[in-house]
Amino acid sequence: TLKDNTVIVVLGASGDLAKKKTYPALFGLYRNGFLPSGVHIVGYARTKMDDEEYHKRTTGYIKNPNNDPEITAKIEEFKALSSYVSGSYEDPAAFDNLNKVLESIESGYQTKERNRVFYLALPPSVFIPVAKNLKENCYIFKGGVNRMIVEKPFGKDTASCRELLTSLKQHWTEDETYRIDHYLGKEMVKNLLVLRFANVAMGAAWDKNSISNVQITFKEPFGTEGRGGYFDEFGIIRDILQNHLLQVLSILTMERPVSFAAEDIRDEKVKVLRAIPPVERNDTLLGQYVAAGGKPGYLDDDTVPQNSVCPTYAATTLWIHNPRWEGVPFILKAGKALNEAKVEIRIQFKDVTQGIFKDISRNELVIRIQPSEAVYLKLNAKTPGLYTRAMPTEMDLTYKRRFADIQIPEAYEALILDALKGDHSNFVRDDELDVAWKIFTPILHWIEGQSGPRPKPVTYPYGSRGPKELESFIGKYGYKRSVEGYAWPVTNLS
Ligand code: BG6
Repeated sequence: TLKDNTVIVVLGASGDLAKKKTYPALFGLYRNGFLPSGVHIVGYARTKMDDEEYHKRTTGYIKNPNNDPEITAKIEEFKALSSYVSGSYEDPAAFDNLNKVLESIESGYQTKERNRVFYLALPPSVFIPVAKNLKENCYIFKGGVNRMIVEKPFGKDTASCRELLTSLKQHWTEDETYRIDHYLGKEMVKNLLVLRFANVAMGAAWDKNSISNVQITFKEPFGTEGRGGYFDEFGIIRDILQNHLLQVLSILTMERPVSFAAEDIRDEKVKVLRAIPPVERNDTLLGQYVAAGGKPGYLDDDTVPQNSVCPTYAATTLWIHNPRWEGVPFILKAGKALNEAKVEIRIQFKDVTQGIFKDISRNELVIRIQPSEAVYLKLNAKTPGLYTRAMPTEMDLTYKRRFADIQIPEAYEALILDALKGDHSNFVRDDELDVAWKIFTPILHWIEGQSGPRPKPVTYPYGSRGPKELESFIGKYGYKRSVEGYAWPVTNLS
């Protein structure tokens, strides 16, 4: 349940994440009546600015394409419950000042209860001082709850992640901490639990006996322009695979949890992740985009070091050593500057027993996470007519068609609401993070030259489907294309 008398403090309020994701999500919740009654939002950052400038920045990304007067009115209300404080991230006195502002807001409450949610939309270099300063200057010791929402990067490998967690834990307990992986807030990722565990038919086919291989794919049509400085230090594996795609994988493959309670779900996720050995070099394909079609290559960005071998594309195959999944390859693929925007899970089933059919496509279950959410099952049916011949077709649950009037919430809306309710199910637990790093740390160290010369990624043109080596890479793990000419008839219903 939501707690009244809540102040939400957004630290890093002038940054990109806050502007593009946090504030629009807070507004979405406010507009639909999902914020606690009497809520206040306080922005905090180093930049000096007046409330007018602050409001301009924090509402700039709220969508209102048709100038709907209802939304315009709500934006004005939203501004009225939000104010700004500027100050340093290191200086305790600045946080004492923030605390005074919070207390003056809270003095207007009818009851003594006070709750504070701190949202850290900050660069990792200040995570620790901010967590410490908040605990020492802005923490409610009696008569309310404190929560801290944090965003990646949570370290760069197992050792640095452990160091970060240990430091943060000196000030904030696990129960007070909400680590965001925003993929856990996406509708189709949340849907996995229902698809898998509320359907006997799905459950029965969900193992090595029926499934040949699985691909989890992330494609973005733009490069790292303007973000090259950050990106070059992290690379695509840390940016997407180690967190977003691995989270999807764990929910896709975990055993059925005892209940929907946060710890029951997270226990199962950790269990399956622990059955995955570290990624092998020869199960990995690395790529970097080069200029094409008038678009710059990765190395053309001024913020990227010359001759950088940082991968902007990676495909790696993971194996799960448990009785359900032994021998099934899980191929995680992610790339920047590709031909389209798409995130999907593609589960390819095994061949039917040979004999009565020739050249028959495999069944595939595709869960399209974005854009245009859908679940479709490629299945063979008799070609209508007088012959008995099989052809690939599909059972198609496209959300825009089936749920035409329903608006799918933004991931950040879902997650902030969960944090306000104290529900940890869709946040990353400390031990989960630790196993996730263990899977990727050796390959990352190899890429970074800690065990010899740095591997050179293959190149791919900006706007292409990825490295040309991909086709044979996937083939190696048994993926087979459908018979010639079949494509899912994607309908653009927007
Ligand atoms: C972020 C990455 O975590 O996720 C970005 O740092 C990436 O590089 C983004 O663009 C993708 O999120 P979404 O919700 O647009 O798929």
